[in-house]
Amino acid sequence: MRASADHAASITHRILLSLFLLATLSASDPDLLFDYCVADPAAAASFHLNGLPCIDPAAARAEHFATSALSRATNPSATLFGFNVTLTSPATSLPGANAQGLAMARIDLAPGGMAPPHSHPRASEVALVLAGSVLVGFADTSYRLYTQLLRAGEAFVFPRAMVHFLYNMDVAAPAVVLSGLNSQSPGAQLVPLSAFRTEPRMPEEILKKAFKINGQDVHRIQRNLGG
Ligand SMILES: *[C@@H]1O[C@H](CO)[C@@H](O)[C@H](O)[C@H]1NC(C)=O
Repeated sequence: MRASADHAASITHRILLSLFLLATLSASDPDLLFDYCVADPAAAASFHLNGLPCIDPAAARAEHFATSALSRATNPSATLFGFNVTLTSPATSLPGANAQGLAMARIDLAPGGMAPPHSHPRASEVALVLAGSVLVGFADTSYRLYTQLLRAGEAFVFPRAMVHFLYNMDVAAPAVVLSGLNSQSPGAQLVPLSAFRTEPRMPEEILKKAFKINGQDVHRIQRNLGG
């Protein structure tokens, strides 16, 4: 009896271990079976798969692997938090990046602007400051905070899914950050919006209790966030 219980426990243990290894191995975007898979956005409308369908490899051109999407400054001054993101997309700006497990982002920060606390559920990120000085930071799952003031040419890693922010401390000059992300679909969840700007609204009772605030506070925050 005892031996068979041990045996069962050891099998369970092995199954759990294999599941864990599988989960670890599949923690980034799926591997490619070809050299490249230049996105064919036109074909994408007819069926759904993880990524975009590819064009005939013989039809690939150098332009498919190039983009000027990140060269254009945007104007984040009038946005809610004073930041604006231009993310490369295999469907529009960078078809050659399809299925390569990466994306790039340009973040324009207005003077005093901020990318508020947010997370990318599917990507680790490395952010390089191109211009300005930017305070960056992330909180880990034990709520330890790591912050660093970056100057032009300096970079910082935000581990996958950790809540992080970028803040242009200069109230007179804009800042520009270039990020690399290890997913073609990093996703982004802004903490203030996932609490106060969901559709439909999160029940007021939840917000009052979660943040220890009253109903007026809830409505004020919702209004401040454009709701
Ligand atoms: C923000 O960036 C996107 C992508 O480049 C662009 O389409 C949009 O116009 C920009 N918004 C502002 C306010 O500059």
